[in-house]
Amino acid sequence: MTIALISATGKLGGAVLSAILENELIDPKDLVVCTSSDLSDSRFDRLRSQSIPLRQANFDDPSSLVEAYKGCDKLFLVSTPRIEMDYNDAPLWQGREKHHRAAIDAALEAGVQHIYYTSLGFGNPSKASVMRAHIRTEKYLHDLERESRVRITIIREGLYNESWPLYFGYYFGLMNETRREVVVAGDGPISWTSIPDMAFGTAKVLAAPSQEWSGKSFHLSQKKTRTLHDIADIVSKVRGEGIRLKIVSRKDYEDFYAERGTERASVEWWSSTYDALEDGECCISDPTLEDLLEDAGRSPKPLEETIAEMLK
Ligand SMILES: NC(=O)c1ccc[n+]([C@@H]2O[C@H](COP(=O)([O-])OP(=O)(O)OC[C@H]3O[C@@H](n4cnc5c(N)ncnc54)[C@H](OP(=O)(O)O)[C@@H]3O)[C@@H](O)[C@H]2O)c1
Ligand SMILES: *[C@@H]1O[C@H](CO)[C@@H](O)[C@H](O)[C@H]1NC(C)=O
Ligand SMILES: *[C@@H]1O[C@H](CO)[C@@H](O)[C@H](O)[C@H]1NC(C)=O
Repeated sequence: MTIALISATGKLGGAVLSAILENELIDPKDLVVCTSSDLSDSRFDRLRSQSIPLRQANFDDPSSLVEAYKGCDKLFLVSTPRIEMDYNDAPLWQGREKHHRAAIDAALEAGVQHIYYTSLGFGNPSKASVMRAHIRTEKYLHDLERESRVRITIIREGLYNESWPLYFGYYFGLMNETRREVVVAGDGPISWTSIPDMAFGTAKVLAAPSQEWSGKSFHLSQKKTRTLHDIADIVSKVRGEGIRLKIVSRKDYEDFYAERGTERASVEWWSSTYDALEDGECCISDPTLEDLLEDAGRSPKPLEETIAEMLK
């Protein structure tokens, strides 16, 4: 069994690769790391020292994808980071699903038997624009599965440990922030999950025999939820000063951040996320991840720890 990994140089994919290697879940010689970056980059020295094959694969160049996936039985497809493709209500096959389809079609051409796709921890259907490309990709995969063209597994990855600043009014300045009031367009319970926990669960799924997770769609998420109001309290405590959450309409939110320099198309794409939060889309009760962690004697890392570490 050989498995091609996409984005194994990124945050999520890299953490999955580390989890595979650290826990010896898959023999390194059965891995193929795919990258669109320069193969001679020193980032890859560690992989070379472990004799892990490295291949060039770029979503914008479908023939490179077919070459990269040749001889692989499984493909781990991490969603593309190029979110700008989704902006301004991208029509079907023009959003990020365009990259995903290129990878899926190439996998079929290369003879891959099983595709594992990383979707996101919202609902389906969803009010959030960030889910649109994922939902389109999930549908495409389900259609292929129905035609018995390939086995599929849809992993709806929980919201990352360190992505809370994006939801919390673009609080990217962290310890440099001076805001006493953070403007958002809604609130609701969110099942935050640390990347190492999620990566461990994903690695276990990838390493299991194909039939174990074939045809399944599930979330890998912590069950405990925290609202943005909770985050305001945690941030206040860590910083030792009161930081208030202010909820405004979507229109006011878009104007507020666009006037402060965030690209309008990006804010408009993101603001629908708050409608999804209000509907409870990110309140996940799927036990899959906690079960996988428990089997390994691990417990999920709490968000409080993540926030405190990031604000240090
Ligand atoms: N669950 C969450 O809360 C959450 C948060 C943020 C993002 N995400 C999703 O997870 C995905 C991965 O996020 P991340 O944080 O791991 O992103 P990241 O650290 O920016 O990594 C992106 C990866 O994409 C690869 N890549 C970039 N352009 C490519 C191209 N043209 N062809 C092939 N590969 C390309 C890069 O690898 P090379 O340079 O080696 O090619 C890199 O490893 C994102 O795209 C997003 O959809 C989820
Ligand atoms: C905070 O400010 C310092 C000094 O200007 C800078 O080096 C650092 O990158 C900033 N941190 C963040 C998270 O923006
Ligand atoms: C968040 O995830 C990153 C990437 O795996 C990890 O390096 C970092 O330690 C995590 N942060 C916390 C505070 O859990």
